[in-house]
Amino acid sequence: MNLPIRPRRNRRTPAIRALVRENVLTPADFILPVFLHEDATDTPIASMPGVTRWSLEGLVKEAGEAHALGVPAVVLFPKIEENLKSARGEESANDDGLVPRAIRALKAAYPALCVITDVALDPYSSDGHDGVVERDARGELRILNDETVEILCRQALCHARAGADIVSPSDMMDGRIGALRTALDGAGFQDISIMSYSAKYASAFYGPFRGALESAPKEGDKKTYQMDPGNAREAIRETLIDEAEGADIVMVKPAGPYLDIISRVRDCTQLPVAAYQVSGEYLMIESAAAAGWVDGRAVALEALTGIKRAGADMILTYYAKRAAGWLR
Ligand code: PBG
Repeated sequence: MNLPIRPRRNRRTPAIRALVRENVLTPADFILPVFLHEDATDTPIASMPGVTRWSLEGLVKEAGEAHALGVPAVVLFPKIEENLKSARGEESANDDGLVPRAIRALKAAYPALCVITDVALDPYSSDGHDGVVERDARGELRILNDETVEILCRQALCHARAGADIVSPSDMMDGRIGALRTALDGAGFQDISIMSYSAKYASAFYGPFRGALESAPKEGDKKTYQMDPGNAREAIRETLIDEAEGADIVMVKPAGPYLDIISRVRDCTQLPVAAYQVSGEYLMIESAAAAGWVDGRAVALEALTGIKRAGADMILTYYAKRAAGWLR
């Protein structure tokens, strides 16, 4: 053939492919979500094979290992004892609670590690919702927005006092970013960042995570606050609102099934964009790999590359530590 243009030339050798590669994963892209509990033992999580619920000591060790591999940040998810849960989740603002103690332990051991906290009520809520639940006259559940935001502010201040670098509201209440910024600034925490779960969808992919924390809603679902999977423009709207209210980083969640959203959010803001490869995405890869159907390592790295290529500057992933090791 007389073909002056042959794109395959740019794929001919590993060296040329390395030169023309547009997106490269590095351990610095990853944020490791870590589960913790009050026990002194480290327990495998039944609903999330390959993931552990750590004691404080185990958590510090795990975070240290991830950090040593180049992972800059962890985000903390506590499993709260049933007897500490309540309708308004008061335990979420307890300065001696599990999360503040974990923050202090992590910052003492690894001052350079970025410690991110999840700001939401569900692990603390006896109703398993991200907000305060009220039953209306007809018996329908309502999630109270403004009351919840007040509690989230107390929770974020508690995390800031303990030394968190970034607070990350995952609740999807309206107005929480502005309220959190005002509360943090008012208490002298101007330097604490807010990573907002801006476009968080009401997703079945969170199922295994809720098992891990025993935080599933006791009744109803999260569709009155988390977004409808059919919507894309609404993600832009949520992102722009959070940017205007003072978010430092915006997030799309889940990641893999929402690559178009990551891409559109990337184009609508100059803020850094995070994406969360959630528990269900992780387990689809892990279970297929365990069955011998796919090469788990290759598929995981490809899925993460796809998320980065779509426009994510950082990725929350249960693969963070393992993938950092693979990339070495
Ligand atoms: C709740 C929260 C959820 C996840 C992170 N924070 C679950 C939910 O919204 O029900 C899901 C993470 C995952 O599935 O890996 N505030």
